[in-house]
Amino acid sequence: MGRTIRIFDTTLRDGEQSPGCSMNLNEKLEVARQLEALKVDIIEAGFAIASPGDAAAISAIADIIKDSTICSLARCAEKDIDAAWNAIKNANSSRIHVFLATSPLHMQYKLKMTPKQVLESIAYNVAYAKKYCPDIEFSAEDACRSDLDFLCRSFETAIKAGATTLNIPDTVGYMVPEEYAARVRYIREHTEGIENVILSCHCHNDLGMAVANSLAGVEAGIGQIECTINGIGERAGNASMEECVMALNTRKNYFDVDCNIETTQIYRASRMIQTITGVPVAPTKPIVGANAFAHESGIHQHGVLNNKETYEIMTPESVGIPKNAIVLGKHSGRHAFEDRLRELGYTLDKEKLDKAFEKFKALADKKKTIKDRDLEAIIGVAPVSGTERYSLVSFVINSGNAITSTAVIKVKKGDETFERVAASSGPIEAAFKAINKIVGREIELEDYSLKSMTDGDDAQAEAIVKISIDGSELVTGRGVSTDIVEASIKSYINGINKFFME
Ligand code: KIV
Ligand code: ZN
Repeated sequence: MGRTIRIFDTTLRDGEQSPGCSMNLNEKLEVARQLEALKVDIIEAGFAIASPGDAAAISAIADIIKDSTICSLARCAEKDIDAAWNAIKNANSSRIHVFLATSPLHMQYKLKMTPKQVLESIAYNVAYAKKYCPDIEFSAEDACRSDLDFLCRSFETAIKAGATTLNIPDTVGYMVPEEYAARVRYIREHTEGIENVILSCHCHNDLGMAVANSLAGVEAGIGQIECTINGIGERAGNASMEECVMALNTRKNYFDVDCNIETTQIYRASRMIQTITGVPVAPTKPIVGANAFAHESGIHQHGVLNNKETYEIMTPESVGIPKNAIVLGKHSGRHAFEDRLRELGYTLDKEKLDKAFEKFKALADKKKTIKDRDLEAIIGVAPVSGTERYSLVSFVINSGNAITSTAVIKVKKGDETFERVAASSGPIEAAFKAINKIVGREIELEDYSLKSMTDGDDAQAEAIVKISIDGSELVTGRGVSTDIVEASIKSYINGINKFFME
């Protein structure tokens, strides 16, 4: 058995801070639970000082997660470290992640600090964090554009002050694999005390090499990979967890390392992040893209039919991709529904299950066969009851290429029902305008997308909207229906409900 590489997931911090990926409290909790199901070693749950909402979400995650270490990011400042500790102190296992930039560019133009001041700050703040928590990670931001010997001195300083993990971020995604590996080796050879700590990589994807650099880091002695689900993160994103993990697993004969990830939960985690953020993955995305296990050409199909290994180096089952078998229909009962969901990796509490079953029955009335992807669509939108402020009662759309589109929308809020009419050049816009009249707020539609979730004539459509209300941050709404107008209206109302839930 080789050494074990720890997986440090930063979907909820580096991922969440990237444009269009923000999540509300419930969504963060759901993601944290899924990360625990994945058996992630460390969950970076946020940056506590960034906002009271961030701090509250980290605390809530620290309260419910039992098996993964919960980590909060902090700059080299007492108030940051205090906020981080406050947020994670109730976790079963906690880590404070302190960072400071060490590159000439960052020290001069961003921090306006001399190298000597940077070393002093690392010594002081790592020791300050250590008073709270035995598990301290120090990151040298922009490590890959830092002077190598200064980087080693920074790491020695952090080790002396009590750091237990040292992170070498490629903050701007500048490295190529051989270069990154050489940097890791140099640090291992020239830093006193390095044998007592775990080295970590945190690679951004600006040149598309985040995963390759992380894996090169592993070959050079890295013991922890920092990554995100679907590779979301600042700019071009971070190293994708599913790609790093499946590379280590599939090429175990090459890397000779282990990791603790439960790979059968990967697909579900990927779908969850796509649903919550509204950021889809490309069909060709390795591991989780729609085409990752599809075989189109005749030659490939022929090969796969004879022996899957001709064109598959890993199985879809190993990452938890459902078989898309026809499973349920109109006459299926609650028991069969619940069983199938469990097989797909979903265990819902009673309230969510009731809602989901209601939706399943409604869908089974419209659609002859319900496939696994349909079930996923249902689960993705099954809201916890009591959290919906507005709900759609009915809509009537009149549209055509020779008339102005009109929409009559009836929406329920509490015990009251509101009906408004609006006209526009298209049916969806008319519907959204009518809803705006009911809500009575300034709602800006920033993005709208519509895609088919399943196949066949009676496929379910998924609409995703990104809206801002009264100048708020963007909120993502999602709606699913066999009717594209209904899916769109539901997504808009879902976004509005999420805004009011915050
Ligand atoms: O990219 C980066 O340098 C970071 C650090 C805070 C670890 O995200
Ligand atoms: Zn980063």
